[in-house]
Order: sequence, then C-alpha cells, then structure tokens
Amino acid sequence: MEFPTVVVCLVWFFSGILASAQLTTSFYKTTCSGKSAVDHFKTEGEEKAVANEENAWGLPCFGFIFHDCFVNGCDASGSIRRHCQLHRKRKTAQPNNGSLRGFDVVDTIKSKVESVCPGVVPCADILAVAARDSVVALGGKSWGVLLGRRDSTTASLSAANTGIPAPTLNLSGLITSFSNVGLSTKDLVVLSGAHTIGQARCTSFRARIYNETNINSSFAKSLQANCPSTGGDNNLSPLDTSSPTTFDVGYYTDLIGQKGLLHSDQQLYNGGSTDSQVTSYSSSSSTFLTDFGTSMINMGNISPLTGSRGQVRTNCRKTN
Ligand code: HEM
Repeated sequence: MEFPTVVVCLVWFFSGILASAQLTTSFYKTTCSGKSAVDHFKTEGEEKAVANEENAWGLPCFGFIFHDCFVNGCDASGSIRRHCQLHRKRKTAQPNNGSLRGFDVVDTIKSKVESVCPGVVPCADILAVAARDSVVALGGKSWGVLLGRRDSTTASLSAANTGIPAPTLNLSGLITSFSNVGLSTKDLVVLSGAHTIGQARCTSFRARIYNETNINSSFAKSLQANCPSTGGDNNLSPLDTSSPTTFDVGYYTDLIGQKGLLHSDQQLYNGGSTDSQVTSYSSSSSTFLTDFGTSMINMGNISPLTGSRGQVRTNCRKTN
C-alpha cells in the first residue's frame, strides 16, 4: 500500500472510531436548560399514536428508516422520504389509511422538541428514539438508544437503490450485505426479526409463492388468492402471518413452518448456518427481544455523521 493510501486509511479508521465514540445515551442531557431534550420525545402525541392500532400499520415507515441505515449510516437521508412516499402510495389505496402515519408521528415529535429545544435535536436521533419507542409500544423490549448523530445534507437515491439488501438475495448474499456495513450474521438474523410487523407488496413475494419449493403449500395457496400471477402488484400481505402487529417471535415460528413471506426471510431457515439461531429465537422471546436492542444499537452505529458534519434539519422531510 502506498504512503498516501495508508494515511487516508488511518485517518478514515480513526475518524470512524471517534465518530462512533461520540454517540452516547446522554448526549442531550444538558442541552436544554439542564433538561434532557430526549425527555420531550415522549410526548402525548407520540404515545397515543404508537399505541393506536391503526398506527401500528404506519410503523412500517420506521422499517424503511432502518433500511436507511444501510445507505451511508442512519442520517435521515432521502431514502427515508422515498420509502415513506412509496408507503403512502400503498396506504392511499387502502380504506381508512390515507396518511403517512409513521412520518406524521415523526413530524409531531420534531415540532414538540423544536418548541422546547430549537435547532438542537436532529431528525436522525428523533427517528432512532421513535423507532425504539414503537417497538416497545408493540410489545418489544426497550434499549438505550445512542444519540449524537447529525442529519445528512444530501439525498442519494442511487446509493439508496444499491445499499439496501434485495429480497431476492440468498443467505450468502444477505450475510455479505450485512458484513459490508459492519454487521454480523447474528445481527442479520435478529434484525430480520423486525419483519414480525408490517406488510409486503405482492410484487416483493410473487416469485416465491408461485415458483419456490421451500414454502408451505397451503400457505402459498392462501397468498395466491390476494397475489395473482399477473396484476395486483401492490396488494399487501403481512410479513408475520399470525401476529403482524405484535413485536414477538412469530416471524421465527413462521420460518420454521416454511411460512416466510419473502425469499430472503426463508433463507434464514433453509438448512444453512443460521437455522440454529432461528430455532433458538422461536422458543425464547426474551433472548430475541434483548438481542434485538443490541443489534439495533449496532445498526445505529453504522458510520454516523457527528460533530459539525451534516446539519440539524428543521423539517425532517427535507434538507435545510
Ligand atoms: C435482511 C435484509 C432485509 C430485506 C431483504 C428486507 C426486505 C424487505 C421487503 C422487500 C419489504 C417489503 C417491501 C414492500 O413490498 O413494499 C420489507 C418490509 C419491511 N422491513 Fe425489511 N428487509 C430486510 C431487513 C429489515 C430490517 C433489518 C428491518 C428493521 C430492523 C426491516 C424492517 C421492515 C419493516 C418494518 C417492513 C414492513 C414495511 C411495510 O409494512 O410497509 N427490514 N423488507
């Protein structure tokens, strides 16, 4: 390796370490007249919203926020907006689901926090806390969210398209895609457990229910009714067949019964190295819920923007 390359690598390596070292659970402890800005996150609006069953279907917006972490780290970048817009299109096709609920909640929290602590808390940290609180509201376990991220000043759609793992990937591709952002195979299995909530469009699982053999045949048949071989691309089915609005181990039980909705889901239980972890989570809810918090912290540590880099967005839907 040539000298300048070594220097660049060392600078990159140490800036990475320093950047993640700056994330802490008490980042905003003294920023608002001695009061923690995070105390204002748990506002009436958010509490009510996440507890409301209809809004549980709005949480998927947070799912895409997690996907965002794969694209240059969790920095509230444009990929969130893009995915949430996709989500809104889907929701408007459904009765009683006309709004972008996931993002409405983020907007509500942001404006409450801005009113007491203007210009202090970036959207990336609001999203990280809101995601944790949503998981807890749906029956999951809490974890200490590390804070101190900044929001991106750019939105890269091409990066968004290439950074997010595709549902067509096999196990080795999934492992590589997680390893590329510094996450382990264990993180892959535990974070995929987020598919215990939310829904997927017919277009995301059509090939699986018509062509694949590692699928329960009556499950495949029941899905075909709502996902024809042509048309109906946006018809939705739950990712967790038995308890799609509860944060539990139903996703893993489904995998063992060959009822994983996405090709990538079933890859985690298909005779490979991750089978044992799936089996273990299917019978131990507390291990899964604890590990989920740890892996969420790992995912939140993917190259965060810290210090004076990036910005504190005024409006979470766009850059300043
Ligand atoms: C392992 C790699 C992953 C792949 C290949 C993947 C793929 C997908 C796909 C294809 C959908 C359905 C999108 C649609 O049809 O509109 C989806 C939904 C979802 N994903 Fe993932 N995902 C992965 C990991 C994750 C992770 C790590 C999380 C969170 C920690 C997550 C949370 C969600 C949520 C909550 C939904 C529901 C979205 C909705 O209801 O609109 N996913 N995922």
